[in-house]
Amino acid sequence: MATRLPLIAGNWKMHKTPAETAELLSALVTRLPAALSDREVVVAPPFIALETAARALRGSPIRLSAQNLHAETHGAFTGEVSGPMLKAVGCQYVIIGHSERRQYCGETDEQVAQKVKAAQRDSLTPIVCVGETLAERERGDMLSVISRQIRAGLAGQTAQAIAALVLAYEPIWAIGTGKTASPEQAQEVHAAIRHTLVELAGQSSAAAVRIVYGGSVKPDNVDGLLAQPDIDGALVGGASLQADSFARIVHFE
Ligand code: PGA
Repeated sequence: MATRLPLIAGNWKMHKTPAETAELLSALVTRLPAALSDREVVVAPPFIALETAARALRGSPIRLSAQNLHAETHGAFTGEVSGPMLKAVGCQYVIIGHSERRQYCGETDEQVAQKVKAAQRDSLTPIVCVGETLAERERGDMLSVISRQIRAGLAGQTAQAIAALVLAYEPIWAIGTGKTASPEQAQEVHAAIRHTLVELAGQSSAAAVRIVYGGSVKPDNVDGLLAQPDIDGALVGGASLQADSFARIVHFE
């Protein structure tokens, strides 16, 4: 069986100026060990704070992610940021297809697929987000919606490329609402996601993919979620904005 290194990622969304970023990261660095071998920690500040974050994280094991990228490398795309630009400021990861981008920016499964390819072209590890609305869950469409998002978002990917990416299951009804999926509810979907990945990439590649859970992950629920066999980490929004709560989540048991 594949061993998957647990991944805890903080999605800061539209929070923190560069000065606030430096402050939060220096507090976080002091709360984490100087080296980490049994888990990986990632933070995703806003674009304008990435360079400050990279500086603040120098010498620490915490890695840097962006929250989005454009699929092209450069060009006349006002307001956009490309993979090579993210790489140049020190990003190793990029979040793709977050439900807020799907909902507020109209991002489609096809755009997600293009962005995943762009991230791989630019040597960034994609954290690809999928998840159902409450209405889709209540209609019984949850697993078909998620399967569609994965099949479309990973279209054209080789088994090897799939093995190297991260998937985030984020039920939309649990994001920023304080309502978390129970460990059993989350595990059910994570197992279904892994099953879809087996169909796309085969058993051994699917077993290597880290599937993280997101949606109101907090210090008091992280341990139960991470104890599930197919939950390989967490994508944390609100609770990643304070050093104490994020450090506690990183130290899940
Ligand atoms: P939340 O956000 O932890 O504030 O619910 C999670 C996310 O949207 O990634």
